[in-house]
This record gives sequence, structure tokens and C-alpha cells, in this order.
Amino acid sequence: MVTRVLGIETSCDETAAAVVARRPDGGGDILSNVVLSQAAEHAAFGGVVPEIAARAHVEALDAVIAAALDEAGVRLSEIDAVAATAGPGLIGGLIVGLVTAKAMAAATGKPLVPVNHLEGHALTPRLTDRLAFPYLLLLVSGGHTQIVEVRGVGDYRRWASTIDDALGEAFDKTAKLLGLAYPGGPAVERAAAAGDAARFAFPRPMRGEARPDFSFSGLKTAVRQAAEAIAPLSDGDVADICASFQAAVSEAVGDRVARALARFRAEHAALADPVLVVAGGVAANRALRAALGETCRAAGFRLVAPPAALCGDNAAMIAWAGLERLAAGLVEADAMDAAPRARWPLDAAAAPLVGHGRRGAKA
Ligand code: KG4
Ligand code: ZN
Repeated sequence: MVTRVLGIETSCDETAAAVVARRPDGGGDILSNVVLSQAAEHAAFGGVVPEIAARAHVEALDAVIAAALDEAGVRLSEIDAVAATAGPGLIGGLIVGLVTAKAMAAATGKPLVPVNHLEGHALTPRLTDRLAFPYLLLLVSGGHTQIVEVRGVGDYRRWASTIDDALGEAFDKTAKLLGLAYPGGPAVERAAAAGDAARFAFPRPMRGEARPDFSFSGLKTAVRQAAEAIAPLSDGDVADICASFQAAVSEAVGDRVARALARFRAEHAALADPVLVVAGGVAANRALRAALGETCRAAGFRLVAPPAALCGDNAAMIAWAGLERLAAGLVEADAMDAAPRARWPLDAAAAPLVGHGRRGAKA
């Protein structure tokens, strides 16, 4: 029997709904994947404003869900379950999505599946590439920077996390500092294309250190000092700073990832085809991807990167995580009582390394 799940995602600044089907053979089909970005509404503020995000979700969600059902060609009565992001993220948006999902589940009598946003990212390569467990995940977004050992549905071990800024946040802050547009990642990458990556010797935070974690705030400070030292900046200066920043980031992340690959190899020596998955909005960055490709080649790993539309925040990944949970029998009987959680670590045993950022739990 084919199972169809409606997914809802409202944890940050994308209002998203999708319908995904799971075939009896375990494969999945995305029947629709509607993502409405609020980037324009936050651009003037250089970052996501929680109150604006929550209000925008309220205003847009009904139409986004209707569009997802319409595009999929299914009626609400033909949906087998409703999955919604219950955390981590901005609490206002989470409330909007989860309450809407609960209302739809109650009205249709179908089960509700509360989903951890990070689990959505973690399980996406099983939808796109039919990956088998276990694999290693590098999640790099505006709110998260972590390396996770994905052992099974609901079974994750966080191996590394950022001790300060998330990587996407470092891109966004660098862009803001240089007067580039929001969101900063794509703007920095565009500017870097014409720049000289060797002009500034920015630090490679944590390189060679024994502890597995990431750090980006020192790099951000170095960028600010370099920019201040040569202000006012020409377009050429901005391009050189962006290129040098990207080179530092790529090398620093490559170093952290190489450590994790070695550990994964040691713990799963019998695995014939070890895989690193890179996901999250920053995974779109070509310099970073090239560095990761190099790191994986050197360690004998395959690098899997979901297509851009499924790398950034979307609801297909939430619907798919819901399908995986249903198939694994992991949906709790009291799911309708689930509360939205601003913080919700994938790996409950891993202690938080940093506190609360503007975008919710960073780690
Ligand atoms: O996963 P995502 O869409 O949303 C969350 O933050 O959860 O990631 C957005 C982040 C932003 O910080 C954005 O600047 C960054 O991903 N980003 C990039 C690129 N495209 C998006 N960073 C570097 N290079 C890019 N091409
Ligand atoms: Zn995300």
C-alpha cells in the first residue's frame, strides 16, 4: 500500500507544505513541495525577525497547504497522516505549524506525526538517494552546524557541533559587515567569484584540534578587523575578503570533517561504501562542496548532497521523516499532546554547547 503524508514546516523563515508518498518497496515520491520564502520580509533587518516570521506563517500557511494538496492532486481525505515540525526553531512559527497540523489531524481523524526539523534534514538522503544506515551527516545551515552519525530512524549521535556561531550565521554576518544583501551566503559566494582567496590570511578555527567541534566567531572578528583596516572598501576589496573568508571556512570545515570521517571509518570498518551527506542551506556553497569532495576522496568516502531544493528548509523532508517514523512504528500514541519545542536536540544524550541564538537553538 502506498502511504501519503502531508508535511508542514514553519520553524524559521520558510512557510512550506508538501505531499510525499512512500511505496511498499520503501522508496519515496515527492508529489508536491511548496516553499514560500519570507526572505524579502526580513531583508531590511539583515536577519530573521521572529515576530515577523510568526505573523507571515499565519498569513501564508493555509494557502501553501492548499497549493501542496492541489499540486499533488490529492484531497485531504486521501492523506494518511499529517507531519509537522515541532522543533527546534522559532517558537511562534512552530506553534502556527503544529497547531494547524493538529487541527487537520483532528478534523480528518488521521494520525499526527510531530517531527524534529533536524531529523528531516538527516533522513532526506534516504528519500533522494535511498541511502542505507549508517551514514555521516554534516548539517550546515543558518541555525545549525553539526556532524551527526545517522544510525537509524530516531537513532542519532551528535559527534560535533559549533561552540559559537552557526556556519550560515557566519556567512550572513560577514555579508552584513561588508554591506552585501541578505541572505548573506549567496551574496558572499557571488562576490567571492571575482576575488583573490590568498589576499587575506584569515584563521582556520579549530584546525588540528583534538576536540571535534566547530567555531566561527574568531573568523568573523578577523574579517571585521581586516575590513576596518582598509576601509573604505572597493568592490575589489569586498571580493577579496569574501574569497579569503570562503577559503578559510572551507579549510576549517574540511579539517573537522576529516576527523569525523576517520572516526566513522574506525567504528564501521566493515562498511563497503561509507557516505558523508552534506545538507542545510550552506551546502549550496560551491567552494565548500569542492573542499568536502576533496576530503571525502582522500578518505575513501562517497559525498552525497541532496538537490538544492531539498538541502534548504522544505516540507518534503518533514513529510518523509513522518513516513519513516510511521514505517518504523515510532509514532507515539499521545502525539496530539506534543508541544512545540524551541530547543530539541536530535541526540538527547549530547549536552548543548551554546545557548539560544536569534534563530533558535544553534546546536
Ligand atoms: O537551511 P537553510 O535554508 O535555513 C536554516 O537556516 O535553517 O539555510 C540558510 C542559510 C543562510 O545562513 C544562508 O546565508 C546560507 O544558508 N546559504 C549559503 C548559501 N546559500 C544559502 N551560505 C553559503 N553559500 C551559499 N551559496
Ligand atoms: Zn533547516
